[in-house]
Amino acid sequence: MDASEVAACWEANAETWTRHARSGYDRYRDEVNTPVFLANLPPVVGSSGLDIGCGEGFNTRKLAELGAAMTGIDIAPTFIRHAQEAEAAQPLGIAYQVGDGMALPFANESFDFATAFMSLMDMPEQHRVLAEAGRVLKPGGFLQFSILHPCFSPPYRKVLREPDGRVRAIEVGGYFGAVQGDVETWRFGTAPEHEKAKVEPFRVPRFHRTLSEWLNLIVATGFSIEHVDEPTVDAATAEAVPYLADLRVGPLFLHLRVRKPA
Ligand SMILES: C[S@@+](CC[C@H](N)C(=O)[O-])C[C@H]1O[C@@H](n2cnc3c(N)ncnc32)[C@H](O)[C@@H]1O
Repeated sequence: MDASEVAACWEANAETWTRHARSGYDRYRDEVNTPVFLANLPPVVGSSGLDIGCGEGFNTRKLAELGAAMTGIDIAPTFIRHAQEAEAAQPLGIAYQVGDGMALPFANESFDFATAFMSLMDMPEQHRVLAEAGRVLKPGGFLQFSILHPCFSPPYRKVLREPDGRVRAIEVGGYFGAVQGDVETWRFGTAPEHEKAKVEPFRVPRFHRTLSEWLNLIVATGFSIEHVDEPTVDAATAEAVPYLADLRVGPLFLHLRVRKPA
C-alpha cells in the first residue's frame, strides 16, 4: 500500500474517529496512554514543539496547555479541520497544517521537541519519519513517541479470559511477519453498540516492525534512547474498568523518548 492509499484510509476514518474520541470512547488513550506519556515528558514550557500525526489535536492541546508553542501536522485534512475548529473555539496558539510526517514541511532545526502519539506505526517508511524528525529538531532536542507495542501487539493479539472475565493471558502472533500496509478494521471498543452500528469500522493500515527493527532504526538515525515506558494500570483501575485490565497482563503500548545529539 502506498502513502496516498494510507492517507485516504485516514481521511475516511477522521470524521467518526473525531466524534468517537471526543465522546470519550478512546479509553486507552484518555485513561492510560496520554497520562503516562505526559508524566514522562520533560518540561516543555516556553519550548517549540511539533506533534506528528496530531489527529484532531487532543494531545497537541495538552502540550499547549503545558506551555509549549505547538505546531500540529496530520495527513488527513478532516482531522486538521476539526483541530483548527477547536483552536478557533478555544485558542491555545497552535498552528495546524496538513502534511506528511515522512516529508515534513519545516526547515532544519525548527523545533525544541517533537511528539508522535500512536502515529509512527501507521506510516509506511518509519526510517523517513525518524530522519525527518531528527532534521527539524534543534541539536539536543528530543522526540517522544508512543506506538503499538511491537512484542505484545504484533499483527495478532488476543486477550484470553477466565470464565469469570478476568484476563488470563495475551496470545500474540505474526511478530516476524513483514506487514506493509495490511488493513486492520476495528471500532473503539467502548463505543455503545448503537453508535458502532451507525458507522463503518475504521480501516487502519498497519506497518508493523519488530522491536529490534525499531531500536536499530532509532540508533541508525543518530538518536540516543533516553527513556522507555510500557504503560500499565493498577489493580484498582483494572477492577473498576475491566476494558483496561489486559494492560496488567501484557502491555499494549511502547513509549520511547530519544534525543538528537547536542
Ligand atoms: C492512531 S491516530 C492518532 C492520532 C492522535 N495522535 C491521537 O493520539 O489522538 C494516527 C494518526 O496518524 C495520522 N497519520 C498517518 N499517516 C501519517 C503521515 N504519513 N503523516 C502524518 N500523519 C499521519 C493519521 O491521520 C492519524 O491522525
